Amino acid sequence: MLGGTRFVGRHIVEECLTRGDDVTVLYRGRSPSPFAGIARHVLTDRRAPTVEAAAVLAEPWDAVIDTSARDVDDLRPVLPLLSSVGRYLFISTCGVYRRAPGRYGLTERAPTIAADASHPVRASATRKLRCERYLRRRLDRIHVPLLIARLGLVIGRYDDSERLAYWLERALRGGDVLVPMNDRQSIQLIDATDVAQFLHNAADRQLTGVVNVAGPQTTARTLVDTVLTRAGRAVTPCRVGEEFALTHRVQPWTEIPLWLPATSPELALMSVINSRATSAGLTLRPLGDSITDALGWQTLRRGWSQRWLDHARERDLLQRWRG
Ligand SMILES: NC(=O)c1ccc[n+]([C@@H]2O[C@H](COP(=O)([O-])OP(=O)(O)OC[C@H]3O[C@@H](n4cnc5c(N)ncnc54)[C@H](OP(=O)(O)O)[C@@H]3O)[C@@H](O)[C@H]2O)c1
Repeated sequence: MLGGTRFVGRHIVEECLTRGDDVTVLYRGRSPSPFAGIARHVLTDRRAPTVEAAAVLAEPWDAVIDTSARDVDDLRPVLPLLSSVGRYLFISTCGVYRRAPGRYGLTERAPTIAADASHPVRASATRKLRCERYLRRRLDRIHVPLLIARLGLVIGRYDDSERLAYWLERALRGGDVLVPMNDRQSIQLIDATDVAQFLHNAADRQLTGVVNVAGPQTTARTLVDTVLTRAGRAVTPCRVGEEFALTHRVQPWTEIPLWLPATSPELALMSVINSRATSAGLTLRPLGDSITDALGWQTLRRGWSQRWLDHARERDLLQRWRG
């Protein structure tokens, strides 16, 4: 496991351990490993592997699962050290697909983005795309089967993006909740445990090529109502509408996560076709179950990112909305 101690990788390691695999986790140690005493640990920066790490990478591996490569510079030092690998699973992102108004229903064959360093999200997706291409070239040459899993938006325990956590925390705090999204806004979320189970099954079945690992499509209305109901607090959703929120300079996604206005090209990423994955065994738990699980985790940690809309501003906005 190249990575494995934070969020998606952590779920993958948990799944492997549950199924009785011998797991080695290679990471830098910036995040504490939850697998001390259960998995073998190799502490190194993959961009400059230590002698010990180089020796470990050269061992025979049934599979290498790579969640931590964000750029080709993460791959160049590692690939030449691998001498015997049964298969390589690379975790990429659906963010590699080109967005355009009206381009919905993205299959694995949809066009990918052109390099765009000026846009932070697209710049990181561009780097992932370069990783995909580099891996295809290098692994093909040494006959190592490659699966590129392009993940949709993932939710679940340990999610350090805190996107869903905004809504969980807001629901747990109760009171009047500002909801800017259109009821029908598309949302597509996948539970990290479903991702982990699928990837393990995909490795067992020797799936190769590119696969979209994305959740079922739902609406913002269903998501928000599910979160507010499952939290079980006294809450009133105040559906102020996009126009009001945009006029008052509330920032979609960066200030209120999971909100994408009707004109946003990013909405294309909420309509990813996952039929290749479902045909290959991807199962998707009901949204309510994922929310209940995530609420349990949020109840224990009660985090709130400084980036999100703060209470005073939310209260002020709601006062204006009521007129
Ligand atoms: N969350 C989403 O919605 C979503 C959507 C699409 C795709 N993805 C993709 O999913 C992947 C998984 O992300 P995750 O953070 O959840 O995975 P993770 O494997 O749980 O955490 C990242 C791991 O990489 C290690 N790492 C990072 N840089 C390293 C380096 N230079 N050398 C060695 N180890 C390094 C980290 O540990 P240390 O920091 O201690 O080294 C950590 O163990 C990412 O590639 C992301 O692009 C996520």
